[in-house]
Amino acid sequence: MKDAPHRASWGLWVGDEMSTRVSDRAEDEVSSAARTVEAAVRTRRSVRAFLPTPVPRADVERLLALAARAASNSNSQPWHVYVLTGDAKRQVTAALWDALDFGRTGTDPRYPYQPPRGEWEEPFRSRRSAFGAALYQDTLGVDRGDTEGRDAHHRRNYDFFGAPVGLILTVSAHMRSGALVDAGLFLQSLMLLAREAGLDTCAQASFIDYDAVLREHLPISDDEIVVCGVSLGHADPDAAVNEHRTGREALKSFATFVGEAPHAS
Ligand SMILES: Cc1cc2nc3c(=O)[nH]c(=O)nc-3n(C[C@H](O)[C@H](O)[C@H](O)COP(=O)(O)O)c2cc1C
Repeated sequence: MKDAPHRASWGLWVGDEMSTRVSDRAEDEVSSAARTVEAAVRTRRSVRAFLPTPVPRADVERLLALAARAASNSNSQPWHVYVLTGDAKRQVTAALWDALDFGRTGTDPRYPYQPPRGEWEEPFRSRRSAFGAALYQDTLGVDRGDTEGRDAHHRRNYDFFGAPVGLILTVSAHMRSGALVDAGLFLQSLMLLAREAGLDTCAQASFIDYDAVLREHLPISDDEIVVCGVSLGHADPDAAVNEHRTGREALKSFATFVGEAPHAS
């Protein structure tokens, strides 16, 4: 198995310190399989360049069937997954690239995924720009003003970053906003299970900008909301973009302990 690029600087923020670097070197290799849930959580990251190595259909079926073990409201299981491979995937990509080139978008008004550009408030705004700078400038060498460079990378979203399997995840609109929570659980289960199988993923909301195009090519019913796309495959260990790592805020910034918490003995 090939060694993946190894960055000494990544780790998880725990408490006040940037600590708990992945201690087991094998777990930091992009292509190695995670052996524990913790290893899957630690090694799951958004991979944005894949090898063309196919993923057997039986493996995809197994991952999806297991991901569907995710909890959902009253076991309603409101999700649906469209699995794109081969020519079907190529056709969808071609249609999306056409739409991108002709400036044609079309989002589902039932799913306002994020605040409009320019309306992000703190602390999300700063986190987003830090993420963008780390991905584009530091990892890809694309400057802020380099629209062409940014567009070229953005375009790769619609090719599922070269992954052999592209998924489009939808939920039933009838099941209201709760279905999106269920979809999130399905998605995270899938991404962690992929790590156990030695595979990598990238969740991609970029597909919802072309909701209308997806509906022209896939049998998505009117009741369904397109939640996101997911790239699935073997990470390209030599791709610079896959060296991108993200940090996390300290525990105290998002957890509030109310009441007496017993200390570990
Ligand atoms: C619902 C969802 C949608 C996302 N959409 C995109 C996307 O369209 N394109 C992309 O490159 N990354 C996308 N990401 C990846 C995030 O940028 C990434 O999860 C975040 O920066 C944290 O990095 P990590 O996944 O490597 O830990 C998405 C993630 C989620 C959960």
